[in-house]
Amino acid sequence: MKPIEADSLAQLRQRKSAKWRAFPADVLPLPVAEMDFPISDSIKKVLHDLVERSDLGYLAAVPELPEAFAAFAKRRWNWIVEPEHLHLGTDVGVVIVEILRLLGKPGDRVVITTPVYPAFAYWIKEVHLEVDERPLIEENGNWRLDFEAIEKAFADGAKFFLMSSPHNPLGLIFGKEDLTKLAELAKAYGVVIISDEIHAPLTYTSGKFIPFLNVSDSAREVGITVTSASKSWNLAGLKCGFFYTQSEKLREDLAPLAMGIHHRASITGAFGMVAAFNDSDEWLDSVIARLEINKKLIDELVSGTPLKVSNPHNSYLSWIDFRSTDLGDDPAAVILERAKIAVNSGLAFGEPGKGFVRLNFGTSAEILQSAFSGIKTLL
Ligand SMILES: Cc1ncc(COP(=O)(O)O)c(C=O)c1O
Repeated sequence: MKPIEADSLAQLRQRKSAKWRAFPADVLPLPVAEMDFPISDSIKKVLHDLVERSDLGYLAAVPELPEAFAAFAKRRWNWIVEPEHLHLGTDVGVVIVEILRLLGKPGDRVVITTPVYPAFAYWIKEVHLEVDERPLIEENGNWRLDFEAIEKAFADGAKFFLMSSPHNPLGLIFGKEDLTKLAELAKAYGVVIISDEIHAPLTYTSGKFIPFLNVSDSAREVGITVTSASKSWNLAGLKCGFFYTQSEKLREDLAPLAMGIHHRASITGAFGMVAAFNDSDEWLDSVIARLEINKKLIDELVSGTPLKVSNPHNSYLSWIDFRSTDLGDDPAAVILERAKIAVNSGLAFGEPGKGFVRLNFGTSAEILQSAFSGIKTLL
């Protein structure tokens, strides 16, 4: 598979998206989870066609999308999805917020396993629920779920477990044993598991992604999967996501949401996703091939430095440990100020993020080389 090539820096600087607008022109941006690759031709065509026809109205029923996702899930993960139970919404963030609002009540606790995607905490607080941090355990750069702490949270009455699977920022794939155990615990304590699987299609050839609902009957009883093509096909601005559960009880509880949220997704998002799931496997594989190369490049670029990098099996995020440098608890601030390179501060990802940064490597070798040479001047 031929790895995809990123756009040139000059082209990228013309983009109007958050990654390329959030910083002055003398800063090289590597935060915000957007990739610097051109989107797939089939998605481009669908979007061009909508614009050509001035076809930018409200979203009607789109049976093509659940069908396309079900076919993708079968092809890539051997997971049988029943298309009639998949429901669209604005994006993954809005869908999760609305699930928590509908199923939860103020004060209910939601377990998250930090370091984790910072928006999880905002979403929980937005609907007046409470964040219950149960940090991952780190041993020699390997991270895993702390089942003892999770069970304690469940036993103490937590109502939800919000999971990033695969895990942002670590690119961690949870194995069958862990997911099965989690489902059993959730069932025993009456906890709902919301599995955010937005990064899943970007799993490398070295990893095997397992959809949560595919692990066991207990998982199907307690789980709601929320996902979108937005991360893997770089369509975040199109605004469309969806949720799916196989539990009769949760389907009934979520019925008002399924009715209400559909019209808050966009026609470009829905049909862009159809093209992503139906006609963009080759593009996806070329992105994965590039990410695997970039991951190795980062290993080479940090070798001989005090930096330690994560070992992702998925997506385009590198979690970098600066704790043996003298850049302090928030190295991202120093890197921005002194090297004019923007990365995410680990502090935003929860308590274990102190002394870490997250760097987005969905870009070209040139940009990565220039970012690391800037960072290395500070060490
Ligand atoms: C784990 C995770 N969930 C959700 C999102 C955001 O998804 P959306 O734009 O569909 O709300 C991101 C974005 O980076 C993410 O990493």
